[in-house]
This record gives sequence, C-alpha cells and structure tokens, in this order.
Amino acid sequence: MFPIVSNDLIAPYVHRLIIQAPRVAKARRPGQFVIVHADRQAERVPLTIADADTDRGTITLFVQAVGYSTCRLVAMSSGESLRDLAGPLGRPTRIERYGRVACIGGGVGTAVLYPLAKALAAVGNQVITIIGGRTSEFIILANELTEFSSEVLITTEDGSRGKKGFVTHVLQYLIGDPRSVPQAVYAVGPVPMMKAVTDMTRPHQIKTIVSLNPIMIDGTGMCGGCRVMVGGQMKFACVDGPEFDAHQVDFALLADRLSTYRDEECRMLQRLPKQQRPAARQR
Ligand code: NAD
Ligand code: FES
Repeated sequence: MFPIVSNDLIAPYVHRLIIQAPRVAKARRPGQFVIVHADRQAERVPLTIADADTDRGTITLFVQAVGYSTCRLVAMSSGESLRDLAGPLGRPTRIERYGRVACIGGGVGTAVLYPLAKALAAVGNQVITIIGGRTSEFIILANELTEFSSEVLITTEDGSRGKKGFVTHVLQYLIGDPRSVPQAVYAVGPVPMMKAVTDMTRPHQIKTIVSLNPIMIDGTGMCGGCRVMVGGQMKFACVDGPEFDAHQVDFALLADRLSTYRDEECRMLQRLPKQQRPAARQR
C-alpha cells in the first residue's frame, strides 16, 4: 500500500503529491522515476521522483492533470492509497563537474529538473536555472531552486513575471556572453522546448542533456512502448534513459509517438465527472 500523505495544488492543473514509500525513498537517486497506478481503471503513469525524505519514508511527485489517469491521481485525497507504485526506475543522472551549468525547465518539466539541478549543485557546479511558464501562476519551484542556484531566471509568455518570452530567449543571452556561456545544459519540458534548446546549443557544441517522457507501460524494457531514436539507434527510455544526449535525439519521432493515442485519451476524459476534467491545454 502506498498512502498519500498530502496532495496540494501548486499551479493550474499541477499537484504536489507526497506519498509514503519508504523503500523507494531510500533507494532512489536523482533522475529516477516511478510508475504509479491510481486505481483499476487508470493507466500506469511514469512520474519523476522530485524529492525524497528518508526519515519520513516519503517521496514527492508532481502531477499535471492532462488525461484520464492523471486526473484520477490528482483527485485522490490524503489518506487514500495508490493501487500500486513501481520503482525507482530508469538510470540515475550522471552527475559530473562541468563548471557552469544552465538548468532549464519548461512548465511542469521544472519538477523533473529540480532533483537534477540540486544534484549538479551538490558536486560544485555553478547552476544557473531558467524556468518558464505561460503566465506567473504556471511558474513552479522558483523558491526551492533559489536555494542552490546562483541565479533563477524566470520567463513568462505574457510578461506577468520575469522576462517576457520563452526560456530560450534567456538561454540566447547566456550563450551570447563569454562571461555566462554554460559548459553544459540540462533541459526538461515540452518537446518543442527541448528541441529549441538543442538547436540553440548545437552550433556552439555545448553538451546538452534532455529528459524524455515517451509513453511508458511496463517500465522494464519489455514492452517497447517507450522507444525513442537516439543517434540512429533504438533506445528504451525506461531502461536506457530517461536522460539522453540531446544532440542525438530524434524529436520529430518522439512528438509523433506522443500523439498516437490522442483520440482515445480525449474519449477517456469524457468518462470523468466534469469537475475533474482539465481545461483544453493545446497550444
Ligand atoms: P508549456 O507548454 O506551458 O510550456 C512551458 C514553457 O516552455 C513555455 O513558457 C516556454 O518558456 C517553454 N517552451 C514551450 N514551447 C517552446 C518552444 N517552442 N520554444 C522554446 N520554448 C518553449 O508547458 P506545460 O504545459 O507546463 O508542459 C507540458 C508539457 O511538458 C507536456 O507536453 C509534457 O508531456 C511535458 N513534460 C515533459 C517532461 C519531461 O520529462 N521531458 C516532464 C513533464 C512534462
Ligand atoms: Fe516498456 Fe520502456 S515502458 S520498454
């Protein structure tokens, strides 16, 4: 049993869930994820372990309500238990000393970025964090990231907080100035954002790592659901990743595979009570 200790709404459609899972809390390392199953009707959902408290035996997950299964998850109250939780899964982040590292989080991807940035700072890197959201209310974890970043630079698309624009606008400034150009870049967020970051760092040969979020089913390398192409080779994000060299990733294929079940997802959403359905989130 995996009881929910707390469930807080921290941004529109984004919840912070703290879950009792002592063995996972002890074993997990930055970059790893769990696959959770809210109930019998819901699908298995892969979620990065954003943080863990080994004394309390809890893990922290951030969930964006986008489809039937994530809406079921965020509708659960403290005291209820998940049907099951498997993990920790995936390869931990390879933490190296690069010098200056830009850690870039787009929207809810910032939750995946958080443990990576923390681990990179812990070994002595200077971490410059860039986080972006549609509006100020979509900016998450800014205070928490300030604790170990030399700077947290915020962008919003409407200019309601920080610089107006996308995270890539700030990255362009950093790369353009020899005093701030990073030796490595970590980017997590929507596929178009990770591709835009990658296209920007490639001409400068800046090492760039992305965390990929393809559809996952078993999480053990058996089903092939999470396959991605990296450097012309097929990789399974659940066992070979989720982090990969961004300059080798086929983002077009990733985007295409992520949209495979869009019609079924829309149909499943109609089964939810109206008050549990998220508003349309298409760009
Ligand atoms: P969003 O669409 O609101 O975008 C957040 C920010 O990302 C934007 O404000 C902007 O700064 C940047 N961005 C978006 N598109 C960009 C582009 N074309 N060029 C440059 N920058 C761009 O994000 P959201 O709705 O919070 O995120 C949802 C998406 O994130 C989903 O597609 C989800 O699958 C993905 N996601 C990815 C991971 C992962 O591990 N890679 C984890 C969680 C969520
Ligand atoms: Fe099945 Fe990765 S989720 S192979």
